[in-house]
Amino acid sequence: MALTTSFTELVGCLHPVSCAGMGMASPELAIEVARAGGLGMTSGVMIPPPDLETLLVDMQTDINGQIGVNFIIPFLEDEASVEIAASNARVVDFFFGEPDSKLIATVHKGGALAGWQVGSVKEACAAADAGCDFVILQGTEAGGHVRGTRGLLTMMADVLDSVDLPVVAAGGIATARAVAMALAAGASAVRIGTRFVATPESGYHPDYINAIIASEGEDAVYTEHFSIGWEAPHRVLSNCIDAADSLQHEVIGKINFGGQEIDVPRNSVFGPMVQTTGEIDAMAQYAGQGVSAINSCEPAAEIMQQLTDGAEAILRADRDRLTTMLG
Ligand SMILES: Cc1cc2nc3c(=O)[nH]c(=O)nc-3n(C[C@H](O)[C@H](O)[C@H](O)COP(=O)(O)O)c2cc1C
Repeated sequence: MALTTSFTELVGCLHPVSCAGMGMASPELAIEVARAGGLGMTSGVMIPPPDLETLLVDMQTDINGQIGVNFIIPFLEDEASVEIAASNARVVDFFFGEPDSKLIATVHKGGALAGWQVGSVKEACAAADAGCDFVILQGTEAGGHVRGTRGLLTMMADVLDSVDLPVVAAGGIATARAVAMALAAGASAVRIGTRFVATPESGYHPDYINAIIASEGEDAVYTEHFSIGWEAPHRVLSNCIDAADSLQHEVIGKINFGGQEIDVPRNSVFGPMVQTTGEIDAMAQYAGQGVSAINSCEPAAEIMQQLTDGAEAILRADRDRLTTMLG
């Protein structure tokens, strides 16, 4: 079964669920989400255009859903990357910058759909005016870098009244119940980060995944602590802030980036990947407020099934409840 929305019809995927494009996450995660019928977003950040093209061609195998590419505006160095993404993926979307009609025109010229992850009603309207096909609305509950200025639900109510585009809800969504709530509230799809970090395919460090599993929603805090490399607010697990503060040395590990081993400075933007060595517990452990519901590391395909089957069952039960309520 599938839940059909304006987003699934626009994008051509089976389910209204997309994983977040996440910094250095493995493209394997996006492939698994797309294979399971969702929109699998992969990151295009800091990947040289020829490498991005090779990656995207290799990713288009045996998938039911669609692949998209995410760019973070402060790290978008070469517009050729956007051109490559647009001609090799169904969706290209952007985060952390003013919606830019020129970039959106580049995406459309390449044949892809354009999205923008926004954090306010004003920014959602700007994304619509700039020509986006859909907006991703990020609430302050979100893990990773936070553009959101308000809680998801109240902000979405205002965005739905202001913008005539499919709205994808992001921030703290980690369960079938939360997916159903977002869709029932008017979202056309959901974008999920933290729940998909806790998968074997994500490429994140097992100690970080275990920390997510051990945490409650209150442990995911809004901060500017890990600002070396990118000065922007973010939400992380509070324990990693304490661990970073307890260290004296300034280089706390090594990370493999683009095939090179580079230092991880204390309080820097780098989240711990599977190949990262050093003080994993003192690195930026990004997490949204949905962590309380994440109790295991499971394959992305299983999470997709739980979220989509579960949301559908909840919405069907709600239909009966609403029918009774409306008389
Ligand atoms: C580890 C991690 C890395 C992220 N990296 C990016 C990114 O590179 N680009 C982006 O648009 N959003 C990124 N995000 C934010 C997501 O797009 C999304 O807003 C967020 O994950 C939603 O909240 P949730 O984590 O509670 O599901 C990241 C989130 C996490 C948890």
